[in-house]
Amino acid sequence: MPQREHWGTRIGLILAMAGNAVGLGNFLRFPTQAAQNGGGVFMIPYMISLLLIAIPLMWVEWGMGRYGGVRGHGTTPAIFGLLWKNRLSRYIGILGLFVPFVVACYYVYIESWTLGYAFFALSGKLPKVSAEMVTSSEAYLEPFKKFLLHYTGMGAADLYHPSLAAYIFFLLTMLLNYAILVRGISGGIERFAKVAMPILFGLAILLMIRVITLETPHGSAVDGLNFLWRPDWSQLGNPKVWLAAAGQVFFTLSLGFGAIITYASYLKRNDDLTLSALTASSLNEFAEIVLGGSIAIPAAAAFFGVAAAQMIAASGAFNLAFVSLPAIFANLPAGWLLGFFWFILLFFAGITSSVAITQPVIAFLEDEFGLSRRKAVTATMLALFLLAHFAILLPKALDEMDFWAGTFFVVVFALCEVTIFFWGFNPSAAWREINRGGLIKLPRIFFFIMRYVTPFFLLIITGWWLFKELPKYLQETSPTIWVTRLLLVGIFLGFGVLVYISGRKEKGHER
Ligand code: TRP
Ligand code: TRP
Repeated sequence: MPQREHWGTRIGLILAMAGNAVGLGNFLRFPTQAAQNGGGVFMIPYMISLLLIAIPLMWVEWGMGRYGGVRGHGTTPAIFGLLWKNRLSRYIGILGLFVPFVVACYYVYIESWTLGYAFFALSGKLPKVSAEMVTSSEAYLEPFKKFLLHYTGMGAADLYHPSLAAYIFFLLTMLLNYAILVRGISGGIERFAKVAMPILFGLAILLMIRVITLETPHGSAVDGLNFLWRPDWSQLGNPKVWLAAAGQVFFTLSLGFGAIITYASYLKRNDDLTLSALTASSLNEFAEIVLGGSIAIPAAAAFFGVAAAQMIAASGAFNLAFVSLPAIFANLPAGWLLGFFWFILLFFAGITSSVAITQPVIAFLEDEFGLSRRKAVTATMLALFLLAHFAILLPKALDEMDFWAGTFFVVVFALCEVTIFFWGFNPSAAWREINRGGLIKLPRIFFFIMRYVTPFFLLIITGWWLFKELPKYLQETSPTIWVTRLLLVGIFLGFGVLVYISGRKEKGHER
């Protein structure tokens, strides 16, 4: 067995894991979800999901990853096969390649917009608007909407026509990802995270301070905070709010994507896991609740008033990032610099995540097929580059990929993880595996939670998706959606074949 790589330092590992989790979701998805789902009340199901589903799953993913890594495997087809002696287990593990790979196909593209916009902000290429137009947020935002539409070319119904700039920044973003990944775990990902994460937190704190002190004739940032956190108690009994909270907790901590398992597979046998996982998660929650909640929505409220901010929040994460905030910064002193900070912040948040979703397939090729790092990275990035064109060019493909890989299978996959570890494998061995080398000892109650409570809740959420949401989605049909679905099936089968071949090789070695 060739020597696998390891993380260099504990702080580097924690920053890389935090970089994995802190993404566009913290700054865009969280505030829009909270605003749309009961404001302050959203935090009750959010905290409960965090405690009963997310943190336990976090330890499960770290534990499974380290268990596999010590045995030479960093991805779930092999790890599930080790843990649960059943012919099916390797094939369930395909999800741990499929999900991150498909998400990477569109995530890198969105990430590249933030790089493009950072450049535009710095070079003064973003639209100019005069402060008098603020009386109508609609008219004021219009030039920025047009700019985004022109940039992405996503208005067309047949094929999107991205601008040349969008394509160039996409290529550049791919190259930057490549440059980090090809340098490996500690030389690439860890070294980059050690620089990028402190900058990211610094920029976010700076922007938060600037936004919190905003006051205009239309409102103040404090109004925005009041709006975001005012509890709407009537929403507490609404299952939609609970589902949204659980979904957000998953998304923000990168759970159910296989990405954390792969990162954890580069731990050493007796490395601490309990405290490191908790620390990385806490950094993510700080970035989400404190920083993510205090920038985009309060800025919109200060600038346009609370009513308009509410509409902007409802119009989705992309509007907030690429339309409202640049429009707001356009009329502040040194707005070009604030805009640059905002987009560089998002870019760092994005790239430390995109390397994490690309790494599982790379690790799979290295571990199971013995490819060199350079070959594995090149092959993975090439496939990624080609498939990303579906998200770039095909109308609705991005949303369809996001639904299946980023939303539906994530929950299914998380359910598989925790049941395989705490039911298919041996529960007390799983518990010992998680606690070995731990700088803190987990309270025994978490054994009970991981074995019963987490799978139970995940089962309920999966059932909800299967019976309530899935039928709605399947009704949506258009030729481009069907092309995307076929593509997804193709990707899944492709990984299936690779997993089958790698299984035969493994058997061959045993003989
Ligand atoms: N957690 C990231 C965010 O908040 C998004 C994300 C979800 C992700 N799953 C992932 C990133 C897997 C890397 C790997 O935006
Ligand atoms: N679903 C998100 C929304 O609220 C958009 C989204 C999908 C997204 N994938 C993403 C945002 C990845 C950030 C990163 O509109």
